[in-house]
Amino acid sequence: MSRVLILYGTTDGHTRKIAEALGETLREEGCALDVIDAKRAPSNLGPESYDGVIVAASIHIRTYQRAVKRWVLRHAEALNRRPSAFVSVCLGILEHRPEAQQQVQEITQRFLQRSGWRPVATRTVAGALPYTRYSWLKKWVIRRIVAKTGGDTDTTRDFEYTDWDDVRAFARELASHLSRSEGRRRSPPPHASSPTSVFGVAARSGDRA
Ligand SMILES: Cc1cc2nc3c(=O)[nH]c(=O)nc-3n(C[C@H](O)[C@H](O)[C@H](O)COP(=O)(O)O)c2cc1C
Repeated sequence: MSRVLILYGTTDGHTRKIAEALGETLREEGCALDVIDAKRAPSNLGPESYDGVIVAASIHIRTYQRAVKRWVLRHAEALNRRPSAFVSVCLGILEHRPEAQQQVQEITQRFLQRSGWRPVATRTVAGALPYTRYSWLKKWVIRRIVAKTGGDTDTTRDFEYTDWDDVRAFARELASHLSRSEGRRRSPPPHASSPTSVFGVAARSGDRA
């Protein structure tokens, strides 16, 4: 049974829901799970005791939660030695303007480059606009920004844009990758070289995959 850590950062709670959905699916696939908020992570929590790690974080003003950035920076080497994946939650992905799409990709790439982490897979997931949970000031500011992009501006209700089927499919891909890695660890083929993961990324030498 693969042991998987899902470490997440959230500001308004939506990435927690995504982390829980990923966790639920991985559990159904037979993995043992720890789902932990980066802000509340014990100081000795590292990737070492896990077969795979998923990090999920949301973009707020063009960056991710500080607790996630710190944890990934600190554990990048250990993350690179085992299958790991990054889930980036944002709203920019919903915009049709190519600049908006590019900005989202740049934010992700900058984070990964600065930390030195090389996840085998990254997924950008559309988040939510929980207007009813915002303070009046935040509601006003966000509504103005969203109005400029043609998004939903009815602040009396919440909007959720996440494709839950895609989130669960991603979790299943990871579970299948983990079980293959586990199989390879147990009985390595005589001339194993550069096995290709279900994510289409060749496993790096030195990886456990
Ligand atoms: C103050 C604020 C700033 C945001 N900044 C960005 C941004 O720069 N780019 C983006 O694509 N989405 C941005 N978003 C959208 C969030 O990523 C989205 O609402 C996400 O679902 C938040 O996840 P969370 O509830 O886990 O914090 C912002 C949202 C808020 C409230």
